[in-house]
Parts: sequence; structure tokens; C-alpha cells
Amino acid sequence: MKFPITLDRQKEIYLNGFAGIPPVVPVSFRELEEAARKKLSSQAYAYIAGGAGNEGTLRSNTQSFEKYKIVPRMLRDVSLRDTSIELFGQKLSSPLLLCPIGVLELAHRQADVGVAKAAASVNVPYIFSSQASRSMEEVSSVMGNTPRWFQLYWSKSNELVKSFVQRAEKCNCSAIVVTLDTTMLGWRTRDLDMAYLPFLEGRGIAQYTSDPVFQELMNEAELRAKRKITFHSVVGLIQMTKNYIGGNFLSKIASGRPIKAVQKFINIYSNPALTWNELKYLREITKLPVLLKGILHADDARKAIDFGMDGIIVSNHGGRQVDGSISTIDALPSVADAIQDKIPVLMDSGIRGGADIFKALALGAKAVCIGRPYVYGLAVGAEQGVKEVLQNMRTDFELTMGLAGCASISEITKSNLSL
Ligand code: GLV
Repeated sequence: MKFPITLDRQKEIYLNGFAGIPPVVPVSFRELEEAARKKLSSQAYAYIAGGAGNEGTLRSNTQSFEKYKIVPRMLRDVSLRDTSIELFGQKLSSPLLLCPIGVLELAHRQADVGVAKAAASVNVPYIFSSQASRSMEEVSSVMGNTPRWFQLYWSKSNELVKSFVQRAEKCNCSAIVVTLDTTMLGWRTRDLDMAYLPFLEGRGIAQYTSDPVFQELMNEAELRAKRKITFHSVVGLIQMTKNYIGGNFLSKIASGRPIKAVQKFINIYSNPALTWNELKYLREITKLPVLLKGILHADDARKAIDFGMDGIIVSNHGGRQVDGSISTIDALPSVADAIQDKIPVLMDSGIRGGADIFKALALGAKAVCIGRPYVYGLAVGAEQGVKEVLQNMRTDFELTMGLAGCASISEITKSNLSL
């Protein structure tokens, strides 16, 4: 497949500007985040922007990139720039994927569907979240042939794990990404200060409520968290009922299913008892490539290979889980060293522009995943906002690569950085 010479986005912005048409989303990340903050409710913004604890890792994820400097090379004919890569047999136009992010309805009512349409319009792979606001069947139906993967939270029910994986296969997902770092929800200070968890309103549980195994599991008696009955909790109950799939409002309330779904989800969605041995089960139930997301230590990277995994994603969950944990760009070199090119290493957490992508690739990543930038794009400009964020990121990377003296991805190495 041949990919067109891009820089289209740069031309488009300037030509549109000449015609008096401004971009839908701000180009600089700082402005984008600020524009999103203005659009979002304070609870939604806190949930999306926040990190764990004192947010040291949230900050260092972006700040650590500053330590690595690009040293551009000159006179190297960069008139043709090939940003394409191959991952698991699929050719991608750029080393960029969309992270799985839950509860996107907090950003915009188009939620996962808007993101999927944008991803498809620029052919950037999208990793569906286990905590999506819309079912994977609905989301994959708008994506044409654009690659999509599925991110799995390993729940307490292996039957549910199997059902998710089988549905993902039917949705043409071409890889399974197991998130390892969220066996419990981190200490999210902003959310705690607002005492707000979207799942309690039945948000972000569409993969579960649309699942036949989960529907069966909901029939089991459930440990009930005590809810205080207040005006606020009644409003929450109404929201929860609205968010529950199928039927009309009154029949849903009468069935008690919306509450049961939330209770079941809370009790089941994660499994802190998970160990490396469980990964064998995944191998038994699918032939798709399996990637482990959340690897930060070289020994865990080596273990991933020992356990026959197909790829890893160096990630600290956008700084949302262990405050004080290493930033991903700092973890990447030792992990890449341990992997020795045996399987692809991807990374996420802190990518805010083309230079970050370049640095990650120079330090051993095969591709990167972006998170908050596209969620802010969704908040500000729905599907078009996400599309522009992706175009901007891609063009910024293409320019950085060319101006650094690299005509293709394989030319990007450690020697392009001053360490
Ligand atoms: C869930 O994955 C979250 O980070 O909130």
C-alpha cells in the first residue's frame, strides 16, 4: 500500500485561515486542554484530566520528555517521508494508535462512535475500551476496514473474559490488549474530592450490559453497597436507568436491572488475584496477538516473552494508577533493551506532540498510543475534533521526522537524540 505524502493538515490550516475558517480544535495541547475544560462539567474534566495521588507521575509523564533532546541531521534528502510501519502483519500509515479510554460519554454524547468514525476517516487504529460507553458491535460497525483492537480488563469471571474476547473477534479486532495495572482503581484525588465515580451512574459499562454472559451473571445475588437515599441519589438512579440498554424507562426501573448491572459490574470488573499463569487461558481461547499493557520493569518485559506474549505497551495508565511511578519515556529504554526486538514494544502516557513520538521511537518504541489529546478533541469538536487532533499529531510527527533528517521510521534511532 502506498501512502500519500502528507503535510496536508498544515496546508489545510493555512489555506482555511486565508479563507477565514479557523480550525475546530486548537493546535497546541495547552490550548486544547483549556478549551476542553471549558466545555466539560467539572466532574467530567476531573475524571479525564486527573491522575493518582499528588499527580507526580501525571506531570512527569510529559516533563520527562524534555530530558531527551533531538539532534537534527542535515542534507539528507527528506523530500519523501515514509511514516508507515507494519504491526502484526498490518500496514499502518503512521506509528500512532488511539488508546483505550473509558466513559467517553463524559466528553461528548458521540462517545466511542465519534472517535471510531474519526479514526476511520484518517485510518488510525482504535483500541476499544472495556469501559466503553458504547458496545464494541456498534463502534466497529462504523469503522470500515480500519484496524481496531480490544482492550481487556480481566474480570473475576473467566466466562465473561471469554465472551468479551469472542465478541472482539467477531468485531474484527486484530489484537487483544490486556491492561495489567488496574486490578484496583487508583487513588484518584480529583475524583475523590468530587466524590464522583461515573460507573455508579451506569456510565462506561456498555460492553458489560450488552454481553449475554454478563446478563446471566446479573441474575446472581449480589453484595449490595449501601446507598443513602437522597435527592442526589434519586437523580443518579434516573441517570443509571437512562444509561441502561433497551426497554422504556418505566420497564427498566421496574425490572431492577439497571441497579443490578452497576452492582455486578463494581463487584466483578477487575481481579486483583490475577497472575502470569492466567495468561495461558487467554492463549487457549484466542489466536489473536496478545499485548500486555502496563509493563514498566525490564523483568516483567522478559516475563512477557517467556509467557509467549506478542507485544507489550509501556504504560502507567496516564499517571492514573501509581503516583510516583516511573514515567513511561524513562521506563522505555530498559524495557526495549530487555525485549531485544523479539516482540513489538509500544508506549503511551504523555504523548502530546510529534517530537514525543519521535523520541519514543528513537528509544525503542515501535508505535505510540495517544489518550487525553483525542478525548479533548472529542470534547471540543466531536468527531471532527478527534479527526483534527489525529491529523495534527501525525503531521507534526512527519515534520519533526523530516526536519530531524529522517526519511523513514527505520532511520529514527538513539543516535538522533542527545541523552
Ligand atoms: C479506567 O481505565 C480509568 O483510567 O479510569
